[in-house]
Order: sequence, then C-alpha cells, then structure tokens
Amino acid sequence: MPAQARKPSSREPAAPGGKVRRRAAAAVAGVLREGRRLEAELDYEGLDQADRALLRELATGTVRWAIRLRAALDGLLDRPLPRKEKRLEALLLVGLYQLAHSGIPPYAAVSATVSALTGRQAWARGLVNGVLRRFGREREARLAVVDEQSPAMRTAYPEWLVEAVRTAYPAEWMAVLEAGNAAPPLTLRVRGDRTAYLAELAAAGIPARALDPADGAVQLEEHRPVTEIPGFTEGRVSIQDGAAQLAADLLAPRAGDRILDACSAPGGKLAHLLDRAPQAEALAVEADEGRLERIRDTLQRLGLEATALIPGDATDPDAWWDGRAFDRILVDAPCSGTGVTRRHPDIKHHRRPEDIPALAERQGALLRALWPLLRPGGTLVYATCSILPTENREVVAAFLEECPEARCVTPEAAWGRPVGPGRQILPGEAGMDGFFYACLERAGGQP
Ligand SMILES: C[S@@+](CC[C@H](N)C(=O)[O-])C[C@H]1O[C@@H](n2cnc3c(N)ncnc32)[C@H](O)[C@@H]1O
Repeated sequence: MPAQARKPSSREPAAPGGKVRRRAAAAVAGVLREGRRLEAELDYEGLDQADRALLRELATGTVRWAIRLRAALDGLLDRPLPRKEKRLEALLLVGLYQLAHSGIPPYAAVSATVSALTGRQAWARGLVNGVLRRFGREREARLAVVDEQSPAMRTAYPEWLVEAVRTAYPAEWMAVLEAGNAAPPLTLRVRGDRTAYLAELAAAGIPARALDPADGAVQLEEHRPVTEIPGFTEGRVSIQDGAAQLAADLLAPRAGDRILDACSAPGGKLAHLLDRAPQAEALAVEADEGRLERIRDTLQRLGLEATALIPGDATDPDAWWDGRAFDRILVDAPCSGTGVTRRHPDIKHHRRPEDIPALAERQGALLRALWPLLRPGGTLVYATCSILPTENREVVAAFLEECPEARCVTPEAAWGRPVGPGRQILPGEAGMDGFFYACLERAGGQP
C-alpha cells in the first residue's frame, strides 16, 4: 500500500529532492514545449553526485515515457492546465514518472514533487498533491486505459514512428520499440588490453563484461561518473557504444593511409581510427563549427592528433579539399537517431515524419559529393544510428544504382543482419545501439 501523503503547507521549506524535481521539470518543459535537446537542458550546477544521477534519471525517464504519461495526466485533470503553465505540466509528468516507472517509494515521490513548488507556483501544491495521490491509488487501472488506446501510447512513441518501425520489422517491431525504451548501458572502448582492463575493473569492485562484437568494448553493469572509471582521466578508455566501435573494423585504416572523416564531431570514431593507424594522415570535416571544439577535446584527452580539423560542409568539397584522393572515407551521416532513442529519448519528440525523406536527401548528397574524393581501390564506409530503411539501405542502394564504379563490399559479420547493401544492428542487440553500416569500394585500383 502506498503511504498517504500529508497535505503540505505553502510555508513549508522544500523537502530534500524538491530542487531536483524542479530542475527535472524545467528540463522536461524545455524538451516538450520548446523543442530543445534534453542534454542541453540538464542543469547540474551545485548538485552532488547522487542528485545529478537523480536529475538525469527523472528527466530522461519522464521524456522517454511522456506520451504515455501525458495521456494518463489528461484523465486525471478536471480541466486542462493553462497553456502558460509549462513547468507545472512538466512537474506533474515528473511526478507520474516516479509513480509509474521508478522504484522511488510513492510517499517520497509525492512529497518531494510537491515541495518543488515554491514562490509563485506554491498555489499549485494542492493540485499536484491531489493528482499524484490519486494516480498512486489508481495507477494500474489508469495506465491500462492508456495502454489500450494504441501501441504508440503503450510504448510512448509517436504514431508515425511506430508505423515506420512496424513496416520495417513486421516480425519484431514491438521488441524493437521496447529496446528503444530500455535504460542504456555504459559502454567503454578500451585502448589497451581488454582482458587486463577487465581484471583491473574486477579488482576495483566494478562489475563489467566484454561485449563481443567489438574487440575493445566493455560494458559496465552500473553507470558511474567518468571520474570513477579507472583509466578514464588518463585516456586509457573512452565512452563509446559497442556499435559505434565497429566503424574502425570496417574501415580498417592502415599506416600511411589518407583518411577523411566527413561528419566528425564529437570525434569518437576519428579517435578510434587514429588509434588503429597512428601514422595515418587524418582529416576531419565538421559543418557545425561549435562542435569542432568537441573533436579537439576528444583527441586531446586521448593524446591524439589529426592532420587537420576543417570547419566545412562535406557536401561542398570544393570549399575545403586540396585535390589529393583519400584511401578511406567515413561518412557517419546526420540521421534521425532512431537507433539511439534509449540514450536520447527526446528524439521521439523532435523528429517529424517529413524529416526522414529530407535526411535521406542529405545522406545521398553526402555520398555523391564525397565519392569522387576516394581513390580507385579505396573504401568508403557509410554509417547511421538510424533503424529506418529510408536512411539506410535505400540511400546506399540508390547510390549504387547511379554510380557503376561503386561496389558493395559490406562483409559478412557476427553482428547485425544483412539488409540490402549493408548490415543493420537493432537497438539492444548484444547490448549495442541501433546502427547501420555499408562498405563501398571504388573500382579500378588496389584495395
Ligand atoms: C552522427 S554525428 C557524427 C559522430 C562522429 N562521427 C563520432 O563518431 O563522434 C554527425 C555529425 O555530422 C555533422 N554534419 C551534418 N551535416 C554535415 C555536413 N554536410 N558536413 C559536415 N558535417 C556535417 C553534424 O554536425 C554532426 O556533428
């Protein structure tokens, strides 16, 4: 039985946890009402480690389940909230999230959420208290009503995305959607001996396991701050999903190669390529100048150096290319991110159905613009963190059709599944994010 929440007085000081709920609500409102990125909305200023983790969990979880929670909230309100009360709606959603999806005891959840209302918002304490207590009592029945409405409500995805996933994966669409709602693991890329590093983690009492598809991947059983991860500060490990670590295997750069990383920030794959081929000449292009700094930070922490970091549009090589061909090109294309909703649940709210063909257009443009920069015999790897065929096999198949000197050389692999000219990893497969890879070779030269 959930404990009964005491009716709070408006003069009561904020209970511990009220501040975190208030910040979670501000972040949720930023995502749902202003269309902002969740990551940029999390304000950790002045919070200790436990509260930082709580803020992240509350905001991420609420955004992940917001479509389902909003429907439940609508049924609990006698009349809609005034539109200007964005944060109040968000706080109610944060409250519902705690009661529906977290292990936080109901009394603590209600009381901490109510105590987030201070100053101008104190008037709403009775409302929030009443709504949350009622939901606590009627939770199962209320969620059942929402879940019966549609798979989109039950899984908290927009209708169009459910349909796109159902069409692409008729046998397993529900499992794909559920995997995109799971809490993401913390995966590391170990730069040295993985077995030795696993022993180091075990000695430090940190449970972890090797992730097989990528030979340097280690998954920690629990999230922890990077400062507590052995070797992180010294650059012996990076944080990188297992699927993202496969790019370096596929591109297989060699010493002396001239490599182009065409969509580079924040530079995770570039760093991996440089680890594989430290003598390579690596050029990184990034359209978002602000994000070039992220590449610099990534390389600096790992003690690596690229030949050049170029602010520029990869679809316009005339503006930055010196005319010397590349042996290897990585096109880690901007995409819908539908393979990484478990890490970035705000994607569910920000993407629109019309974005997908527009992205496919840009992805095709990248392939067409960069292909002439590849030397005969060279390899281009096309990657996305999307699970939608429009951005993946259809883009690459259309390119192969129009470019006779491009040959598909995507290898057989122990991961993913063959889809047209590439391989698709679905979210959760071997602990990895959803990813697509295709390898193309330019005819007429030595590989
Ligand atoms: C998927 S992210 C790349 C991730 C990166 N490869 C890594 O492993 O860390 C795509 C990047 O491409 C950049 N981008 C988008 N369009 C671009 C273009 N036309 N030219 C160059 N960069 C572009 C985006 O700003 C974004 O930083």
